[in-house]
Amino acid sequence: MSSIKDKMRPFYRTTEGGLFSDVTKADVGDVAEEMQRRGVALMSWADPFMPDPSIPKPVLDRAIELLQGGFPAHYTMPIGSMKLKKALAARLERKFGLKVDPARNILINPGSDIGLMLAMTPWIEPGDEVLVHDPSYASDFMNAELLGGVTVRVPTYREDGWHLRIEEYEKRLTPRTKMVLLNNPNNPTGTCYTKEELTELAAFIVKNDLICVCDQAFEDCLFPGAEMTYIASLPGMWERTVTVCSCSKGMGLSGFRVGWMIADDAVMDVFYGAAVNLQGATSTLAQEAIIPAVEDDSFIQDYIQVYDRRRRYAYELFNSCPGVSMDLPEAGFYAWIDVHELGTSAELTRLMAEEALVSLNDGSFYGSQGEGYLRVILACFKDDAVCFAALDRMAALFRRLAKEKGLFS
Ligand SMILES: Cc1ncc(COP(=O)(O)O)c(C=O)c1O
Repeated sequence: MSSIKDKMRPFYRTTEGGLFSDVTKADVGDVAEEMQRRGVALMSWADPFMPDPSIPKPVLDRAIELLQGGFPAHYTMPIGSMKLKKALAARLERKFGLKVDPARNILINPGSDIGLMLAMTPWIEPGDEVLVHDPSYASDFMNAELLGGVTVRVPTYREDGWHLRIEEYEKRLTPRTKMVLLNNPNNPTGTCYTKEELTELAAFIVKNDLICVCDQAFEDCLFPGAEMTYIASLPGMWERTVTVCSCSKGMGLSGFRVGWMIADDAVMDVFYGAAVNLQGATSTLAQEAIIPAVEDDSFIQDYIQVYDRRRRYAYELFNSCPGVSMDLPEAGFYAWIDVHELGTSAELTRLMAEEALVSLNDGSFYGSQGEGYLRVILACFKDDAVCFAALDRMAALFRRLAKEKGLFS
């Protein structure tokens, strides 16, 4: 008799979540709780100020008021609250210069992870190829494969600041190429793509009649000098782009589980039609409570000042360690650290958890270009001192390893 897994679609047969495998990832199973019990600093979840309380006051006040009124006991439509969509449309125009119709161009999701999967479903059929720049957020490689498609990795390089090389896309174009997945700003490299390079990428997409899904979960986390360009706003792109956003990163409200997708009416018609089946309704309480943060997001600038201090601290500290280096990220709230002289990403991730008591991410999870790198979330903890102490422990371990390898006397 065949096993229950043999009956599954091919990619699912090879997928493991962690119940039966040797899992050291902090985002699966009960590993995170066990690590916290051992005093390990969890700096592997891209979650501002985790684990400390950090709800902006207007959001907290609104949530309490809503709960007291009893309204959150009830559904919002699966396509999302019109009040929230109007607030998001106004913000899009104010902040990014994009004019959309809230009733026709925005869909609310329970977070952008489901939005990213939903964004691909109308197009990706078995065998279809999706070009994804590497390194990128790990889910961005897996979604196409879950649908039976093929993820084709397009390398980016540290020597370019991880910016895009269009010729790498051109080299990988085949008759099965259907989509380009863009993660802007990029997690884990912290690169924010320029208008010039996005214009080149857009021309490639239009010329080859492709679809674009743009993961913009970090669009609000820009350091001074970086500028957010919506690829959807470039010539020929609006009608072929689905943009996927969230309140998790910029607003630091990951636990509220609210994301949103932006697309042309013709595309949105399909998503609205399938929303109840594919995602269901988003939390009524969360949608209503985040409206004050959408209407006035000035608190994000305070968060960015915190991340700015921390990226500079990490930059000075790690670049002073022999065999270790990093660039100053343009966006996001993580450090992407080159450690290849000291060992593999997997070895160092394990050593950091065991000896420095810091849980961070193995760079190879973010693509083949990520081997030899570590990602550490700098946004964790309310108090800079807790974050800096964890980074100091990392640096002490880096120095010890460098000494053992004879990289300095
Ligand atoms: C690049 C990127 N996109 C999307 C997500 C999903 O976030 P959420 O589902 O909380 O919106 C994450 C979460 O880590 C991310 O890093």
